[in-house]
Amino acid sequence: MIELHRVSKVFSVGPVKVPALSDVSLRIAKGEFVVLTGASGAGKTTLLRLLYRDDVPSDGEVQVLGEDVASLRRSEVAALRRSIGVVFQDAKLLPARTVYENVAFVLRVLGTPKREITPRVFDALRTVGISARAQAYPAQLSQGEAQRASLARAIVRQPSLLLADEPTGNLDDAMEAEIIDVIKDIRAGGTTVILATHQSRLVRALRRRTITLDGGYLLKDEG
Ligand SMILES: Nc1ncnc2c1ncn2[C@@H]1O[C@H](COP(=O)(O)OP(=O)(O)O)[C@@H](O)[C@H]1O
Ligand SMILES: [Mg+2]
Repeated sequence: MIELHRVSKVFSVGPVKVPALSDVSLRIAKGEFVVLTGASGAGKTTLLRLLYRDDVPSDGEVQVLGEDVASLRRSEVAALRRSIGVVFQDAKLLPARTVYENVAFVLRVLGTPKREITPRVFDALRTVGISARAQAYPAQLSQGEAQRASLARAIVRQPSLLLADEPTGNLDDAMEAEIIDVIKDIRAGGTTVILATHQSRLVRALRRRTITLDGGYLLKDEG
């Protein structure tokens, strides 16, 4: 599903070179639930961005779903991104649209037949437990509900890979536990999950395979 071979990423900030990832190799199989951890600045977000081809490596090779992401053409990048759902710390919902519209929007952009949209949106909303909030606007949601809505938006295309970058970073403990349960349910449906978090308490609670980055290097891969 995912293979990184000696991947490095260096950002140029004016004349300064900032190494974000250095010589990282790893493999993740279909259906795994992997936790990606390390202190702030360790390279977690950079690694996820390489997986959904938001950026390309400076060196080494990144393969996702059988494709070498650096060599993809524009149309192929779009196809890759359709099979990957991404959620962030901030739910990033469109404020002027309801929860339903935020999720349906994704399907409309993909040209999904009209009659399929409503059932698929409600399937996704049910999976994350907010179908009762379909007509609410983002400002009316709790942070936990907003994050559920962003998860619904990520899974409505039925991606084979879900990338979650600090998805519980804005949530209190109770909401965090709920969101983690939702992510576990998504995984149980067959989706491969990579969850990035700097919170060691959450890493311990998850008890999953854990890949630890330290200053851009792969420090540990265990569990
Ligand atoms: N677009 C960018 N331009 C310059 N430096 C960046 C950029 N993105 C990340 N970095 C740097 O790369 C390193 C890793 O960042 P990041 O991947 O965001 O770490 P994490 O998500 O683990 O906090 C940090 O030193 C960060 O400042
Ligand atoms: Mg980050």
